[in-house]
Amino acid sequence: MMPGRRDFVGLLGSAAVSFVTRAAATHRTSNLADARIEVLINEPIGTIAPEIQGHFVEHLGGVVYDGIWVGDGSRVPNISGIRKDIVDRLRAIKSPVIRWPGGCFADQYDWRDGIGPRASRPKRTNFWVRSPEWPASAGNGPQRYDTNQFGTIEFARFCKLSGSQPYFAANVRSLRPHDFWQWAEYCNSPAGTTTLADQREKDGERQPLNVRYWGVGNESWGCGGNFNPEEYATEFRRYTAWVPRFPGQERLFMVGSGPNGDDLGWTRRFFDRVGRGMGDLWGWALHHYSWNASSGRTTDWFQGKGDALNFDSEQYYEILREANRVEQLITGHWSAMGEFDRQHRVKIVVDEWGAWYKPGTEPFPDALLGQQNTMRDAVLAGLSLDIFNRHADKVAMANIAQLVNCLQSLFLAHEDKFCVTPTYHVFSMNAAHQAAQSLRTIASAPQAAYSRNGRPASIPGLSASASLNAKQLTVTATNTHLTEDRETEISIRGAAINSIKVWTLSAPDVHACNTLANPNAVAPREQTISATSKTSASTLVVKFPKASVTKLEIALA
Ligand code: AHR
Repeated sequence: MMPGRRDFVGLLGSAAVSFVTRAAATHRTSNLADARIEVLINEPIGTIAPEIQGHFVEHLGGVVYDGIWVGDGSRVPNISGIRKDIVDRLRAIKSPVIRWPGGCFADQYDWRDGIGPRASRPKRTNFWVRSPEWPASAGNGPQRYDTNQFGTIEFARFCKLSGSQPYFAANVRSLRPHDFWQWAEYCNSPAGTTTLADQREKDGERQPLNVRYWGVGNESWGCGGNFNPEEYATEFRRYTAWVPRFPGQERLFMVGSGPNGDDLGWTRRFFDRVGRGMGDLWGWALHHYSWNASSGRTTDWFQGKGDALNFDSEQYYEILREANRVEQLITGHWSAMGEFDRQHRVKIVVDEWGAWYKPGTEPFPDALLGQQNTMRDAVLAGLSLDIFNRHADKVAMANIAQLVNCLQSLFLAHEDKFCVTPTYHVFSMNAAHQAAQSLRTIASAPQAAYSRNGRPASIPGLSASASLNAKQLTVTATNTHLTEDRETEISIRGAAINSIKVWTLSAPDVHACNTLANPNAVAPREQTISATSKTSASTLVVKFPKASVTKLEIALA
């Protein structure tokens, strides 16, 4: 006999868990829980590409300089000049891929500036030099005038150390196709075969870097050249035709610069025009940032963006509402792409996403666009990753913006101080989904209601995704409700449960964050629960705390 549910709930702290038998659950559902997650074991969606948990590094503020790159001689623990804490933490979450060097920066970057002896590399004006978001106290350091100490070899080393694949964004606005061609040759031609391979060897890497992922420009409708889709399709063909492929990398994964938000016209007109160039197109980039621009507070210089730390319930929910929109963008662009690419060979690459707040919470003045990261951002990350998981058949890669000291970062770092953010913990909880089979997962819960510009509004109260790897089922769930815990019945349709482990990330106050001075304020808690008997039990009840992210690892019988 299983003990009654009420005997279990409450014993296990914030993510209380109990088993009930299937028969009992069916009978007692209405009394058990006010939300439900159904996982359909026999309805696979597709393999979750590990690259869905990818990252993004741009030469922007404190991302590279003082973030990743501290230099060989630094007193900050480093490996060949690269901050060791970041390397170790990325390994721990199985970081799959990192995009570099931008962003808008990419379309003004000359890769030749970042090779050769570091002491003789040129100093260049950074793309972001005149950005209005610079705090008055920022200086004229490498964040504004780039010393190019961190170039192709340093980035490739960072990727290798952290176990990630490199994803390069090529300059389409201000360099020629020939330069792209030669960058690929510098990176990938076999040792000893070309002058550029010799140069790479002199720079410290004899063997090819094996760069497979190449972005062809960035936001080509905007900072990447202000092209129209037909012009960009022509450029895409010119840049990708005959880029050299070397033994071992016969296929290069070219990513086209996709639409601005919901601009389906950009997608249709590009696909209509690209013609034979589609053969080289592997991914279609989509960028989606979440900010408070639509909440009616849109009049200031920073487009109504809210504050990272000080927010009310309307701002909390509005950011999450914006984040949820990525699901419509994925399905909308996917179906537009399918009008031209009937087999859906080309996949979606959400290579910039995350929350974007106004300036004021930078970890240090030179960290342009640097912002703090609270439990609200963890909730945003949780529901976004759930969306990507549920669309594993469509999304081949996603890259949160940006890795450190910037928009929705996993890390804050300055000199010898370092911390991980709540968003880092959500990535850690999601790592078990990598390369697993995404399963159809249905979450039903009361809507989370709030007031938007004085009118009633709501967002889904619960988000979830699930994946299967052999007998290991991973379920991630995000309770978006700001004030209510959510008792949820989870039903595994098509398998029985053997044992369960649960991790929950939550905080008494959603404004909670980690800081360089107090680095461990927010961290997940783990509980291990075992079934008391191997019955046919396939249902459990979990209480998700308000504004929380939970991972369940369920061993199936
Ligand atoms: O991530 C910051 C900027 O946002 C990127 O450089 C650009 O691609 C986007 O507009």
